[in-house]
Parts: sequence; C-alpha cells; structure tokens
Amino acid sequence: MFSKVYGCAVVGIGGKLIEVETDVANGLPSLTIVGLPDNAIKESRDRVRSAIKNSGFVFPQKRITINLAPAELKKEGSAFDLPIALGILACSGYISSQTINKHCFVGELSLDGDIRPAKGVLPMALTIKGNSGHSLCVPADNIQEAAVVDQIDTYPLENLQQTVDFINKVEDIQPFKVDIEEIFRMNSVYDVDFSDVKGQQHVKRAIEVAMGGGHNILMIGPPGAGKTMLARRIPTIMPDMTLEESLEVTRIHSIAGILPAGKGLIATRSFRAPHHTISDVALIGGTQLVRPGEVSLSHNGVLFLDELPEFRRNTLEVLRQPLEDGVVTISRASASHTYPSRFTLVAAMNPCPCGYFTHPVKACRCTPYQIQNYISKISGPLLDRIDIHVDVPALNYQEISDKSQPETSAVVKERINNVRRIQQERFKGRKIFCNAHMHAKEIKEHCQLDNQTQSLIKVAINSLGLSARAYDKILKIARTIADMEQVKNITAAHVSEAIQYRSMDRNFWGNK
Ligand SMILES: Nc1ncnc2c1ncn2[C@@H]1O[C@H](COP(=O)(O)OP(=O)(O)OP(=O)(O)O)[C@@H](O)[C@H]1O
Ligand SMILES: [Mg+2]
Ligand SMILES: [Zn+2]
Repeated sequence: MFSKVYGCAVVGIGGKLIEVETDVANGLPSLTIVGLPDNAIKESRDRVRSAIKNSGFVFPQKRITINLAPAELKKEGSAFDLPIALGILACSGYISSQTINKHCFVGELSLDGDIRPAKGVLPMALTIKGNSGHSLCVPADNIQEAAVVDQIDTYPLENLQQTVDFINKVEDIQPFKVDIEEIFRMNSVYDVDFSDVKGQQHVKRAIEVAMGGGHNILMIGPPGAGKTMLARRIPTIMPDMTLEESLEVTRIHSIAGILPAGKGLIATRSFRAPHHTISDVALIGGTQLVRPGEVSLSHNGVLFLDELPEFRRNTLEVLRQPLEDGVVTISRASASHTYPSRFTLVAAMNPCPCGYFTHPVKACRCTPYQIQNYISKISGPLLDRIDIHVDVPALNYQEISDKSQPETSAVVKERINNVRRIQQERFKGRKIFCNAHMHAKEIKEHCQLDNQTQSLIKVAINSLGLSARAYDKILKIARTIADMEQVKNITAAHVSEAIQYRSMDRNFWGNK
C-alpha cells in the first residue's frame, strides 16, 4: 500500500511543501524514515507508533518506509509527526485517500495522540498561500497565526482521532477566521509614559526624530540623567506597524516558537533589551539548530543596548552586518540561512567610567587613558552606523522641581505616525518603510539640497572631518526633520539640526 500526505518544512524564514510518501509492505515489522530527517524526526517513529495505538487504531505489523520529498532538503523539527501518522493510517485503510491530498498537515504528536503546537506555522501558511491550492490543518494552539494569512482555509486540530474523522468527513470543522483589523485596533496599554520624564526637551526631540525616520540613536550622559528612563518609554511612542511589517515580524517569532499564546499576529513593534552579558549567538542567532537572535527578534522594532561599553567588543562588532544590511546570515555545516534584522538601535552610555565627565558640577575622577580605553570599546565603524548621537545632561534643580506637564506619549506617537505615513507613501512598493533605510538611489531622489544648504554641509564636513557614511546619514536625518514639518524641500535649518546630532564626530570628549 502506498499513500501521499502533504506536510510543510521551514527553510530560513520561508517554507516548503513536503510530500510525505508512505509505503507499507509485507516483511519484518519496521519503520524507516528517509529524506534527510534530523533527530527529532527520527524520534517521530516512537511518538507516531504510540499515538496511533493510543488513538484506537491498529499499528500495521509490516515493513513501513517513509520518504520526505524533496529528499535533498534537510528537514528539522517534530511537525512531521502528524503527516507521517496520517500516511500510515491511510495505508491501513482508515482514511479515504481522495480527500487527504487537499490538505497540508502540521503538528507534533504526544504519545496519547494529542496534537502539540509547532514552530514556524506562519511561514508555512504564507508558503501554502503562494504555492498550492491546499488548505492548512494545524495544531489548535497555532490556529491564530495560521489564520492571519488570507486566501487559504485553516483548520484547528486537537488530536489524531479527530483529524481522521475530519478527513473522512465524519466530523465537520469550520475554517478558522481572524479579524486582522481587530488585532491592530487592540492598542497596547503601557504603565509608563513619556510625560514622566521632566526636562530633556532636546533629547525627546532627538528620540522623536529617531522614531520618526527609523534612525539609530545613542544617548550619552551622566548617571541618573534619565537615559534608561527615556529608552524604556520608547515603546509608547513607536509608530503603528503596517500589515506587511507585522507579518515579517510575526514570521520570525513564529520560527523561533515564541509567539505569545493565543496571539496570531504581532501588531506592535518589538522592543528588545538584552543584558550586556549576552552571547554573540543569542544576539545574532545560531546554535546548532539555526535560530533567529535578538537582532532578528527586534526586526522592524527597537534593539536597546543599555550601558553600551559594557558589552564585549566582539559582541558589538557582530552588530555591524545587521546594522548595515538589515539582514544576518547564519552559516553552519548543513545550511546557511538569512534572517531579516532591520531594527532601530537605541543605545545609552556614560561619557566616562565614573560617569561625570560632562557633568556641570561633579568632578570626573577618570584619567584621559581610562576615558580613552572606555570609549575605544565602541569602535569607530559602529559609531559611524549610529545616526543620532545625543548628549543627555544632568537635570538642574529648576528642571527637577518643574511642575508643568510635559507632552504625553499619545501626542508624540500621533506625530510620529503622521511622519511615517509620508514615508510609506514615498517608498510604496519598494520594500523600504522609512527614511533610515534609503539607499544611494533614494537619497539622490529625495534629499536634494539647494546651493546654500549644500555649502553649509560642505563647511561642516570639512571642519568636522565627517565620513561619507556620516554625510549620507545627515541627509537622511534632514529628510526626516523636513517630513516632521511636512515640507517637501530640505532646508539649511533641517541640515543644521541633523549636524547637531553628530556630537561624537564633533569630538565630544576633546572639547570639554
Ligand atoms: N528627566 C527626568 N525626569 C524625571 N525623573 C528622572 C529624570 N531623570 C532621571 N530621573 C529619575 O532618576 C532615575 C534614574 O534615571 P535613569 O536610570 O534613567 O538614569 P540613567 O541616565 O540611565 O543613569 P545611568 O547612567 O546610571 O544608567 C529614574 O528612575 C527617575 O526616577
Ligand atoms: Mg541607565
Ligand atoms: Zn569620569
């Protein structure tokens, strides 16, 4: 007897339809799986055998061979349990094989036949949508993420027995639908707000520019100035995501298997704040099974590195590729995968080891050598990739005791949303979502300068010794500032504000 059942494999951030072919022949009882399975799939033999028996079916005492095609693709994980079990049941005559081929099945089996959640269901659903006329049958726990993909039917499954009844049309299960607009409407509620932070108007402005255009930002200041406090409030002003952005982010979380329970779509931007002891692998991704790291989990959101110089230099160096290209490539012996990692970097640091180098009153106790050593942990190329550097001074008494009510996050977020809308319109259909992601071509097209502004930037470059990369960054930031004013042309005022944000290039430490 022979049967064919469809399953799906995750490949990088995409998926691939897999044919699970089962052949049951007379001979010594055995169960062999071929077609480059990993260990989890090999172990599937024992789970499938128990699940079939415990669901009330007879396991055939014959020679069973299972082939996962295409055979050359290496397959991972336990999500093939279900199609393998169904293939065996189809060969044993429990299932009418005409209807089984209309579906694609995903799920791990427990020994009693229950279907457990699988990783990467969203990329699988997107693959099925673009690929075949199949419907997708997934573990009930994964149904939310499968159902966000429109144009395909998705069915939630609880256990093996129910699945067989469903295929044989003994039990009717309706395709699951989710209301995507409703998910987006459910606004996240935060217990902190930008209005908690007193003073620091120019830092708030810099953060607004950063979030408005997706620019990386570094805050430098003495202890207690409010750097961590400000950064922790950034999620409350991050712009709303488009569905396209949201699907990209959810796909990565789906592969990592860390979608929150009952949540099919990540509708708010990620804010990841790894500790400075984080390993390269956890930051970039990797390990034996290829897994997305923090840089990918913060895709389209914010990666916050507090106390930047405390991170190991190596760890910071590996950030260079994702910062520049918006992707990370993780290679290992069997395969290499590329994951998206276009995050906005928010970093904070003190200006020196004791922290008080820029403090107006407290004296800094560090030697020039110590300061040099401290700063040199962050290499020039990394600094070059951070668009906005902003000084966060200590508050004076007047500012601390100020009773006036600063702007709330809701007001700031509304403005940022408006600025982002201008950019979405500008880059429609180009896979670019904000000004920070412009390439040379877009910069040329959208950052034209008049003569006066051109000469201003020339003076700045000559006197500050800016790199070509810094020049491009100034243009991009100036574009965002012009967008914030809703004007088409970049003016000298926009460019001079953008130049202000390159304080590290202006030799921050040399000029005290
Ligand atoms: N601008 C501010 N408005 C209101 N409270 C503030 C402000 N700045 C600091 N604080 C208070 O000081 C505390 C410490 O601030 P925060 O942790 O943000 O400092 P920091 O700049 O990150 O310092 P460090 O360099 O030591 O990490 C805050 O929890 C808050 O209570
Ligand atoms: Mg801090
Ligand atoms: Zn110091």
